[in-house]
Amino acid sequence: MRKIAWIFMLFVLAVASSYGQQTTSTQKNNQEKQKGLKDYYSTYFPIGVAVSPNALQTDEATLIKREFNSITAENAMKMGPIHPKENEYFWEDADAIVAFAQRNNMKMRGHTLCWHNQTPAWMFVDTKGDTVSKEVLLKRLKDHITTVVSRYKGKIYAWDVVNEVISDQEDEFYRQSAWYTICGEEFITEAFRYAHEADPQALLFYNDYNEIDAVKRKKIIQLVTDLKAAGVPIHGIGLQGHWAVNEPSADQLEKTLSDFVDTGLQLQVTELDISVYSKEHSGRESRPEDEHDVFTTEKEQQQMEIYKLCFELFRKYKKHLTGVTFWNVSDRHSWLDNFPVRGRKDYPLLFDQNLKPKKAYWEVVKF
Ligand code: GLA
Repeated sequence: MRKIAWIFMLFVLAVASSYGQQTTSTQKNNQEKQKGLKDYYSTYFPIGVAVSPNALQTDEATLIKREFNSITAENAMKMGPIHPKENEYFWEDADAIVAFAQRNNMKMRGHTLCWHNQTPAWMFVDTKGDTVSKEVLLKRLKDHITTVVSRYKGKIYAWDVVNEVISDQEDEFYRQSAWYTICGEEFITEAFRYAHEADPQALLFYNDYNEIDAVKRKKIIQLVTDLKAAGVPIHGIGLQGHWAVNEPSADQLEKTLSDFVDTGLQLQVTELDISVYSKEHSGRESRPEDEHDVFTTEKEQQQMEIYKLCFELFRKYKKHLTGVTFWNVSDRHSWLDNFPVRGRKDYPLLFDQNLKPKKAYWEVVKF
């Protein structure tokens, strides 16, 4: 009888211990499932995403909270949307995004205070429709920057102050924008000064694309070096990182990062996406020979390799890289669905249209 009791007890203990093991492994699996990009990279840099206020009302919000610890407003803080008329600001969308970041303990990047695109038409003309003077334009820029930066003081830790002023033409330094034609280069230094006055704690960035191109990179470096030398409050360079399955190469990206590190400024990748089509820099209409709606196994593989390469190098440069932000959440929607080819679907992100991690995701977190 005693023997039977012993056997019974041993059996109960064995079942209990295997149950215990199962619970711990289930807990571990659950934890693993809950883990997001931000957790894998917690000792490297914050991982951000550009959002619309709409995305925060959908199932994308759950994914954003799980995966990211920094956000940028995709459009809501650009001059046109936020300052549609001289005496009228539209705060609703930007406020909603800032509130979401605060509620969820996320960092918030501000984008962008001065750009040649998405600028409101009133900015450059007077009531008669004539081009305004440099003095008037700088005053408008100051009012804009002071108002926007002050509103989010202490809530936005870093601002893209000036976006894309370097020309894409090899033999031209500055982009010939309305800002430049009216003010000359002074609008750049002034923009940084106005932003710094409004929030002395905010980190201020110069942000640009095609920074992997040696000629353009040299000009960007020249610009930020001159700004620093002139005592302009600039703290970082934003590398937009709109790349594709055919670029950058490992050497090109390594050289890009190391050249920018030499400026002594901090770096952030501010608008990362990897198009599944070869890189084209100008917008155009669709052509019969364009491939449409194709995310083939081959493209999936190429995209995975570029993502893997990028993050390997990002990790290598973690001392200088203080953030990596994706431009849009998932392949459901991206600005690349309409650029460079209007109406051509692209698949540039780490999450598919059902918000599931793609193969590239697993390469990014495997290290
Ligand atoms: C540039 C801008 C971004 C965004 C992208 C395309 O990179 O900095 O704000 O408009 O173009 O969406």
